[in-house]
Amino acid sequence: MTFSKTTFSVFFFVALLFLALTVVLKQWHFGVRETFGDAAAPDGLTPVRNRLLQQLEERQQELEQLCISSDNVPTTLGFMDPRTPETEIGCEELSGVNAVDFLGSGYTKTVLKAALPEGLFVALKSVNHQGTDMRLCMEDFKDHQSCHELVSFKLRKEIVLLQRLQHPNIIKFKGQCQDSALVGGITAVLEQGMPLQMIQLLQSPWEERFRVCLGLVRLLQYLSSSPLGSVALLDFQPRQFVMVSGELKLTDLDDASIEEARCEEDSDCLLQFPLRNFTFRCSSSRICEGLNEMRNLYNAYRYFFTYLLPHQAPPVLKPLVEKIMNSTGDLKQSINKTLVDFEEVLHVYKSGLHLENVPPLITKDYAVLKGMRSVGNMEYRCWPSYNEQGCVLSVHSAREAALICSSHPQCTSFSLSNERTWTGRLLASFRSGFSHLVPDVNSAVYMRRVKASGAVL
Ligand SMILES: Nc1ncnc2c1ncn2[C@@H]1O[C@H](COP(=O)(O)OP(=O)(O)O)[C@@H](O)[C@H]1O
Ligand SMILES: [Mg+2]
Repeated sequence: MTFSKTTFSVFFFVALLFLALTVVLKQWHFGVRETFGDAAAPDGLTPVRNRLLQQLEERQQELEQLCISSDNVPTTLGFMDPRTPETEIGCEELSGVNAVDFLGSGYTKTVLKAALPEGLFVALKSVNHQGTDMRLCMEDFKDHQSCHELVSFKLRKEIVLLQRLQHPNIIKFKGQCQDSALVGGITAVLEQGMPLQMIQLLQSPWEERFRVCLGLVRLLQYLSSSPLGSVALLDFQPRQFVMVSGELKLTDLDDASIEEARCEEDSDCLLQFPLRNFTFRCSSSRICEGLNEMRNLYNAYRYFFTYLLPHQAPPVLKPLVEKIMNSTGDLKQSINKTLVDFEEVLHVYKSGLHLENVPPLITKDYAVLKGMRSVGNMEYRCWPSYNEQGCVLSVHSAREAALICSSHPQCTSFSLSNERTWTGRLLASFRSGFSHLVPDVNSAVYMRRVKASGAVL
C-alpha cells in the first residue's frame, strides 16, 4: 500500500514535470517564431511580406527587361500583313461581352470563349483563381490581391511575347484589357482555337498528323532565330497548343525563355530528359550554343513525332520519315536541316511522286461519268476516313483513287469533287452502291466495271 502510494506520487510528479516542460518548450517555440519568423523588421515588414515584395519586384524587372529587349522589334515584322493593320480589341469592345463557353485552364490561366458583337468568337485569357499558381501563392503569403498581381505578371509576359512573336503557328493576339484597379485584372484577347486532343489526332489521317508536325517544325525554326533571339519553350507539352482549322498553334508562352544558358565548360551544357541526356558545346562567348533550339526539337520528337509521324505514312515516304525520326530522336541535326527534310516529304507527297509504281491503266477498269453526282449512297466505313459515316480519303488523282477502290472489296464506285485537303490533294468518296445520279458540274463518278454490271446507269 505504502509502496503503491509512493509510486503514485512519483508518477504524479513526473507527469507534472512533463506537462510543465511541454508548456515551457511550446512557449519557447512560439517565442522563436515570433522573434525570427513573422516578427516585423525595423522597416515594419515581416520577412514573409518581404519575400512577396521581392518576388513582385523580380517579375516586374523580368517584364521590363523583356520590353527593353523587344522594343526595337517592329510589331509588323514576321508574318503580319502590313497592309491590314488590325485595330486592337480593348476594354471598350469587351464591355458587355459575355463568355459563352469554357475552353480550358492550366496552372496559371483560365480561357473562356466569347462572342463579339459582329459575331466573331475570341478566346479571353485571364488569371485562374483556382489554379495551382494562385493556390501556392496563397498558402505562402495569404494575400489575395498581391498573389493576383504576382500571377498576373505571367500573363503580362505572355502578352508581350505574343505581340512580338508572330507566326502562322502562334496564336494571334487581338488585344487586351486591364481593369481600372491596375493590380492583376488583365485579360488577353486571342484568336480562338480548340484545345489539342491527342487521342483524336492519333485517329486522324496521316496527312493531317503530318500537317501538325510540319507546323511545329516551322514554328521551332522561327523560334530558333526569332526577333527576340533563340526562344526555348520550358513547359513544352501538347496542352500548350491549340488547333485552328487543322493548323497547330502555340498558345501558352508564359514559360518561354529568351535567355541562352551560360557556361564555363561543355559539361555545363547538359540537356536532361527522362530517357536521354545530351551535352552541347560551351562557346567561346560562354554560352551553350544551340541548347534552346535542341531542347525544343527533342520535345517535339518525344511529344509529337513519335506518336504522329511514322504510323500509316505512305510507303514511299517511309524512308524519309524514318530519317527524320532518327535525326530528331538523336538530335543529330539543326532545326533548319530538319525543316528541309520535312519540306521534302511535303514536296514528294504533293507531287504524287510516290505513285510512280501504280499501273497507269488502272482507271481503264472504271467508267467515268463527268458532271455527275451519286445520290442515295450506300456508304461503307474505312479508316482513317475524313468522314465518320463513310469512306472519304485524300488522293493525288483519279488513278490513286482507282487503286484504293480496287483494293477495297466493298467498293463499287467512287466520286471526286472539287474539295481539296490542305496539301491540295483531292477528296475521294468511296461507296458500295447508290440509287441514282444527278447532274453536278463539280463532280465526277467512277464506276468499277467488274462490279458495276448490276448497277442502274
Ligand atoms: N486561344 C485559345 N483557344 C482555345 N483554347 C485555348 C486557347 N488558349 C488556351 N486554350 C486552352 O486553355 C488551356 C490553358 O491555357 P494556357 O495558356 O496553357 O494556361 P496555363 O499557363 O495555365 O497552362 C490550354 O491548355 C488550352 O487547352
Ligand atoms: Mg498551359
